[in-house]
Parts: sequence; C-alpha cells; structure tokens
Amino acid sequence: MNTKRIARIIGSGSYLPEKVLTNKELESMVETSDEWIVTRTGIKERRVAGENEYTSTMGIKAAKEAIENCNIDPEKLDLVIVATCTPDYLFPSTGALIQKEIGAVNAAAFDLQAACSGYIFALSIAKSYIESGFYKNILIVASEKISSIVDYEDRNTCVLFGDGASASVVSFEGKGLEIRDVSLGTDGNQSDLLILPGGGSRIPSSEQSLKDKQHFLKMEGREVFKHAVRLMEVAANECLSSAGIEGRDLAWLVPHQANIRIISAIAKRFALKEENVYKTVHKYGNTSASGVAIALDELVRTKEVAKGENVLLVAFGAGLTWGASLLTQN
Ligand code: ACO
Repeated sequence: MNTKRIARIIGSGSYLPEKVLTNKELESMVETSDEWIVTRTGIKERRVAGENEYTSTMGIKAAKEAIENCNIDPEKLDLVIVATCTPDYLFPSTGALIQKEIGAVNAAAFDLQAACSGYIFALSIAKSYIESGFYKNILIVASEKISSIVDYEDRNTCVLFGDGASASVVSFEGKGLEIRDVSLGTDGNQSDLLILPGGGSRIPSSEQSLKDKQHFLKMEGREVFKHAVRLMEVAANECLSSAGIEGRDLAWLVPHQANIRIISAIAKRFALKEENVYKTVHKYGNTSASGVAIALDELVRTKEVAKGENVLLVAFGAGLTWGASLLTQN
C-alpha cells in the first residue's frame, strides 16, 4: 500500500476591495495617460482598499471563503501562513490577527515575507509540513494593501499596484490541486532594485524619513523587468524539469500579474498560447504576493481544470525572490 502523504489545495477564496481606481482617475493625479499605462503594462484599472480595510481584514474575507469552499472546520487548521509585505503591523503578525478572527484556535500563525513570490514560498512550507506528517491542514493567506506604501505622486510606481487577498486551504486529505513541485530562489545582490526603505530598524520612522518619502516603495522598473523575465524562466524550467514535464504539457500557466509584457515574454519562452495563460493584470494590476493566488482562485472557479491537468505558477518580486510551483489536478 502506498502510504505517501500528498499535499493538495482543497479550497480557495479571494477578496478584492470594491473601490476601483481607473487609469483615467490616475491621469488627474500624476502626469500619465491611459494609453501609456495600457501599452506599457496592460493595466486598465486596479482595486484600492477602502478606509477601514487592511491586509488582515481583506485576508480574513478570503480565508473565510476558502474555508467555506472546502467545508473544513477552522479548529482543524494546524497552521496559518500569511504571505505579505504590507502587514497591518510589524508585530503582532497579520497571521495572528487572521487566526483569531477565523476561529483557528488550534493553529500556529506567522507572516512570511518574500514580496511578490510569497504565496509560492508559502506553498513550499505547506507541502513540506504536510508530506512530512508534521501538520495536516494549513491555511495560506496572501494579502496585500500595497496602496499603503505607494506614493501617489510617483508616476513610475503608482500606476502599477493594487490591493487584494486570496487564500488556500492545503490538506493531507480531500480532492484538489496536488502540489507536485516547488522551486525557489533569491538574489540579495539585487535587493536595492525594489525596496521600502523606511519604517524598519535601519531607517525608523521619523520626521526626516517622512519628509524624504522613505515610507514609500522605490523601484528601478526597467532593471526589475529584465530580471523578472529571466528569473521566472529559470524558476519555471527548474520546476518542470524536476517533475519531468515540459511546457507543452501545461494546461495553464498562472504567472505573477505585474505587467502584460512580462507575462507575454514568459509565455513565448514556453511556447504557450495566450489562451493557456491566465491573466488578471488588466483589472487588478500588481497585487504583489496575492497576485498569483487571486489568479489561481479565479482560474479554478471560472474554468474547468480537468483531472490530470497541470498548472504552473511562477512569480518574482523584491529581494529579488522568485519561485514556481507545479500543480496537478487529482
Ligand atoms: N506615465 C507616463 N510616463 C511614464 C510613466 C507613467 N505612469 N512611468 C514612467 N514613465 C516614463 C519614464 O519617466 C520614462 O521617461 P524617460 O524616457 O523620459 O525617462 C519613460 O516613461 C519610459 O520608462 P521605462 O522605465 O523605460 O518604461 P518601461 O517600458 O520599462 O515600463 C515599467 C516601465 C512599466 C515600470 C516596467 O519597467 C515594468 O513593468 N517593470 C517591472 C516592474 C515589476 O514588475 N515589479 C514587480 C515586482 S513588485 C514586488 O515585488 C512588490
């Protein structure tokens, strides 16, 4: 008898704030145009959290939907991992805030910071804990209120980002997407390319740090772009070859939703047709860690992923970090 434990995503859910920020509205905030944003990024609009919405509250909504989706008792959750780079507070963790509100009284909880790659990093932990027998049921929440760290006077960045959350229940039992493989990487040499300088222990918040706008994210867009395409290809190749499959064996590619040109470049490198690449970037922009998870949740809700079909997730982000995960429906 095969007693190998298999980690599967058995439930998923998402939450997008109601408030829509269109390119037209951004035209009145910074010197930009709908035409520039659409041709350079593919983004038409993005969601922005309302006044009383935070990374935790959006994450709670996504988590409750995921829990309901697979009908699991929250008391059976052993762990809550929250992938975010915009936690409510530096501490306590957003994981602790979410754990309380969803009634996961038996779960440990922590935050994981790998920027836009965070959801894939979290999948690797869930897979390892479940397959080793350490835990049985794990909730991953990827939630970001990126609008809280965006400078809406900086046209280089403010047009790109949006807010949103997604959640997945990963379990040792039940049907769903098996986490076949995960491949991760980091290059700290490129840490300056995408950074939130202020508010940490190096540049604590002060009158001067606020004046210098150190509490807003800074990005070398063109450089990040180049690395993004290269690193997502590396991650995807590593993941596929360790699972012994090729690009043509994929039913779906779900890439990080940062820029339509990056997505198209990746699809081209794996000779995938546009219709096999799932995209949400036009309507939500770059929602960092939650981007790939929101897209996956939408994919499984709106399209049929048949038994045996393969889905490849691939992402990159600040760090620089990158990761890919191969999922197979079974
Ligand atoms: N509207 C109009 N013009 C603009 C805007 C704007 N919103 N933003 C920049 N420009 C200008 C620039 O100032 C520049 O002008 P210049 O040539 O006079 O200097 C010109 O447009 C072209 O700038 P580029 O940087 O060459 O534009 P590019 O084609 O590279 O597109 C972009 C910029 C969209 C930022 C792209 O580089 C990109 O998507 N990079 C990747 C970003 C990313 O994916 N980050 C994800 C990580 S997120 C995370 O981990 C949290």
